[in-house]
Amino acid sequence: MSASHGIALIGSRGKMGRALAHLIEGELASSCALVASLHTQSDDRDWSKALSADVWIDFSLARSTQRLHSVLASGRGPSGLPAIVIGTTGHSASERAMLDELATLTRVLQASNFSTGVLALKKALEFISPLLGDSGFRPLMVETHHVHKKDAPSGTALTLAAATRGLTDERIYSIRAGEVIGDHRVEFHGHGERLSFEHHAQSREIFARGALQAALWMAGRHRRERTGTGWLTLDDFFEEKLACLK
Ligand SMILES: NC(=O)c1ccc[n+]([C@@H]2O[C@H](COP(=O)([O-])OP(=O)(O)OC[C@H]3O[C@@H](n4cnc5c(N)ncnc54)[C@H](OP(=O)(O)O)[C@@H]3O)[C@@H](O)[C@H]2O)c1
Repeated sequence: MSASHGIALIGSRGKMGRALAHLIEGELASSCALVASLHTQSDDRDWSKALSADVWIDFSLARSTQRLHSVLASGRGPSGLPAIVIGTTGHSASERAMLDELATLTRVLQASNFSTGVLALKKALEFISPLLGDSGFRPLMVETHHVHKKDAPSGTALTLAAATRGLTDERIYSIRAGEVIGDHRVEFHGHGERLSFEHHAQSREIFARGALQAALWMAGRHRRERTGTGWLTLDDFFEEKLACLK
């Protein structure tokens, strides 16, 4: 990465925010810099400082969407609006509508899980679930997270369920226990046989690293093209990376 990109962190004092700041200020210090750190105590000045960032990374709570929306909808940085990477999960329909509106103003990438393993699991489920469904297998999911998690099922569980043909919301079982970072298991029950696919997050760093890679990609694109709006996904990011390798 040649130029340093300015990053504003929303939810900077949280578990994910701290993991992100650790990477930005340590390992990735030559490619990016923290220009604003936002949390519940931040005032209007802090938020307007964030407009000078190339990209915002939001790992806060869904209720912060209102503030995010009002600052971005009425503000403008020196080189247009920052791009946004959203890791926050559990948005209501009205919060989702605010994000849709932001995607008409700038580029927005949202992912319920930024780990490479979960992206691979999603691709595997998209491929295998129709084959298993046609052979009479029925899927279910068990997801386990720490007791502090606010939303259930997890955003990752919903993403994986959407990728799994035949997996309905009532067959997702959510467990909240201890300090589990995030486990997802999809089981396919057939006649006399059972198949399972599992992902275990062992550190929050996997999400932070994935989100930062996506943010630097977004920031680079933003600088090159200056303008651009709309939703992007992690699939877009990986497809562009893979295309570069071909
Ligand atoms: N996509 C992924 O890969 C992924 C991975 C892990 C977690 N997540 C999601 O990321 C989010 C954060 O997780 P976490 O475990 O870090 O949560 P957390 O420890 O509870 O931290 C939440 C942070 O959000 C801040 N916040 C809450 N309301 C706000 C508001 N109105 N304005 C500004 N900041 C506000 C809090 O500020 P204070 O410190 O001032 O209270 C805190 O810093 C959750 O939605 C979680 O589900 C996503």
